[in-house]
Amino acid sequence: MTNLKNRTLFFGDNLEILRDKIPDESFDLIYLDPPFNSNRNYNVLFKEGLQDSPAQVQAFEDSWHWTHESQAIFEELVGVRKSPTKINEQISNLMLALEKLVGHNDMLAYLTMMTVRLIELRRVLKSTGSIYLHCDPTASHYLKLVMDAIFGKQNFRNEIVWTYRRWPSKSKFFQTMHDIILFYVKDEKSKYTFNTIFQPLADITLKIHKGRKQLATIIDGKRLSRDQEETSVGTPIPDYWYIPAIAGNAKERLGYPTQKPEQLLERIIEVSSNEGDLVLDPFCGCGTTVSVAERLNRQWVGIDITMLAINLIRHRLAGQFEGKSLPIIVDGRPKDVSGAKALFEKDPFEFEYWALDLVSAVPGQSKTKENMRGADKGIDGVINFIKDIKSGEQIYGRVLVQVKGGMVHRNDIATLKGDIEREKADGGLLVTLEPSTRPMIQEAVEAGTFTPSFTKVEYPKIQIISVQELIAGKKPALPAWSEPYFKEAKKVKIGNKSQQGLGI
Ligand SMILES: C[S@@+](CC[C@H](N)C(=O)[O-])C[C@H]1O[C@@H](n2cnc3c(N)ncnc32)[C@H](O)[C@@H]1O
Repeated sequence: MTNLKNRTLFFGDNLEILRDKIPDESFDLIYLDPPFNSNRNYNVLFKEGLQDSPAQVQAFEDSWHWTHESQAIFEELVGVRKSPTKINEQISNLMLALEKLVGHNDMLAYLTMMTVRLIELRRVLKSTGSIYLHCDPTASHYLKLVMDAIFGKQNFRNEIVWTYRRWPSKSKFFQTMHDIILFYVKDEKSKYTFNTIFQPLADITLKIHKGRKQLATIIDGKRLSRDQEETSVGTPIPDYWYIPAIAGNAKERLGYPTQKPEQLLERIIEVSSNEGDLVLDPFCGCGTTVSVAERLNRQWVGIDITMLAINLIRHRLAGQFEGKSLPIIVDGRPKDVSGAKALFEKDPFEFEYWALDLVSAVPGQSKTKENMRGADKGIDGVINFIKDIKSGEQIYGRVLVQVKGGMVHRNDIATLKGDIEREKADGGLLVTLEPSTRPMIQEAVEAGTFTPSFTKVEYPKIQIISVQELIAGKKPALPAWSEPYFKEAKKVKIGNKSQQGLGI
């Protein structure tokens, strides 16, 4: 078990990490926003990728479908297979009942995968801790049964309805515009934190009750008079929260499809933790929880199964807390070449995200698994740099980045050359896991150089850099890219054309 440190991001499956690395009673607050069962493409990080290639996310999605893995975990939960997780009879009975009720399908797989994680999450929650499970109406009623079985129904506090507005869609039922957040404590008899938040009384209420002292609220055992309420605190907030979803043009929007608004997390963190407390988000996505926790002076730990999410969070925090040095620990990223090889063998996509991050490249959007594996037309990543300034406007240039995990050949350089021409990019960078060959180096040298008018410095048109060199601290020779990560990703200007985002 790891001695947990503030600002740790774990890359990997939260079940493995919880089981192997997180000690009992570690956290004051847990918020989890797992992929919803209703949203089967929850993990699609790039919309375009989804349209082009559902296969891109298949490997990941599999773990939430009825597969050998969910079957094995189900067997652990019902007690016919040995489990590292402590299972009690109530949970086994519930799983058997759910099996009868919903059958062997994705919903049972989802509930199975959630149940085993929620048991581990209870274990790592302090006895004074609170947990908020964010879900939607498709699965919330089943998940409440699961939560009751794991946490005890006496520890249920609220079913919070988070409402938001979005464009209505054509339907023969009411527009669905809310999510459910199930709020439990580990032990209702403990001194768990609950910092009541008040909202101002409605004008109409104030008018009606003006002068009526008998209308009073009891808060923390203290009776507040109407006058006190009116003048100081207002009324405690109810269990339905209207908080706008992140608008398309909102400043906080990073483009991560399931990103939650900071205001939502602010409320949860402020109510159920105090400064210095340790907060966990085991499905941390692009890091809304950890970023708000940091701002509110809480300690935090995040877990995500995608390297992309982990990288995004590092950029998000760097952008948000510019000037403040935030020592973030990332657990699970390869530290040496053998770690890089192991990651490549386990998951070439995650290897690619990791390698792109080593050169601060923004992942390409239109790449699909098929063309990555096949004709290799997809661009793995892009580095944007200021190429020129004309009439006060910055003109961006691009260096295309290709990542190669397997053996590399002269042909890879020829392909990169073709990509640069086709995309009208300025240069190319090949990141390799295996050493490059002499003919490759020769072909790269023959490609010549480019000189951005902004810096007037000459750079090789095609460069090759190995993972080993990058780990050792070598950097490719590139113009400084001065645009922030997310802005680069959203809009890239090439020549006179404005091109819509590559990536996040
Ligand atoms: C709904 S998103 C969370 C979004 C997050 N609340 C935010 O505001 O960015 C769910 C996240 O869970 C991650 N995830 C899914 N299964 C996981 C697992 N088994 N272990 C760790 N992370 C997982 C996905 O990669 C995705 O980033």
